[in-house]
Amino acid sequence: MTLNPGTPESTFRPDLLQGKHALITGGGSGINLGIAQSFAAHGCAVTILGRNLEKAQKAARGIVEAGGKALGVSADVRDFAALEAAVALATAEFGDFDIVLAGAAGNFPAPVDGISPNGFKTVVDIDLLGTYNTIKAASPRLKAPGGNVLSISAYGIPVPMQAHVVAAKAGVDMLTRTLAIEWGLRGIRVNAIIPGPIDGTEGMARLAPDEESRSQVAGSVPLGRMGIPQDIANAALFLVSDAASYLTGVILPVDGGQNMLGGAPQYQTFQAMGFGQKKG
Ligand code: COA
Repeated sequence: MTLNPGTPESTFRPDLLQGKHALITGGGSGINLGIAQSFAAHGCAVTILGRNLEKAQKAARGIVEAGGKALGVSADVRDFAALEAAVALATAEFGDFDIVLAGAAGNFPAPVDGISPNGFKTVVDIDLLGTYNTIKAASPRLKAPGGNVLSISAYGIPVPMQAHVVAAKAGVDMLTRTLAIEWGLRGIRVNAIIPGPIDGTEGMARLAPDEESRSQVAGSVPLGRMGIPQDIANAALFLVSDAASYLTGVILPVDGGQNMLGGAPQYQTFQAMGFGQKKG
């Protein structure tokens, strides 16, 4: 099976995840789909979970057509019972999980003044509670020893117009580090990735829809470019592989160094895009 079209050949051996099974929430598109495709390209059966069944099944079909093993299932990560039902479907198809990847997230740029209590709650419910729900619902079927939990976090720094997101993701980071301690002796490693600006994702299409904003975003990254989904998938492959077997509780930024500059570059991009401005 080939990797994502247009991405470099893999550094990792093709059978790195042979015989394994990963649950990937939010796997229907973007970064999480890139991870699902890469895991499948390295021998892993993937269950792609999304709110929209059609989208999850389409993503799974693409992987199967490329020679991998995949199943699409639907659940809203805010709904614990729906997650439990999806876990039952996934494990009936491919057996217990070796990897649980909590990637589903919700986001929009808005200043604290411009977001309602329900808007704030919605993002915390999806990003933080949704991550907890995913890990909790899948944990009875996560292999121990040998299991891996991986969450997709964000930023790791304060970012204006993202208070709801950074607050929720700070919770994800502490959940990750705490679970890493609680589950260490079970032989389950628990880590997270903080992606930088990744080209070809829905979020980036919204934030940088034209060439000017794209080059502005690229210019805000010390390495001088936006990332591609394969950059995140490579980090995910490493973190769930035996090469990382002495590594747990790590929150790994994969962002070309952008977080070292603080929240200002991101804020300037949001302002240039007109987010948070009062209309009329
Ligand atoms: N600015 C301010 N508030 C916003 C907003 C925005 N751009 N978009 C949504 N909200 C508020 C809504 O007004 C609503 O609050 P209210 O009831 O007080 O009016 C609240 O958020 C919930 O919105 P709703 O559309 O009902 O929620 P949803 O569950 O259907 O969608 C979101 C969740 C809002 C996170 C939506 O953006 C989403 O589904 N995103 C998924 C995809 C995504 O974000 N991907 C990027 C991941 S990084």
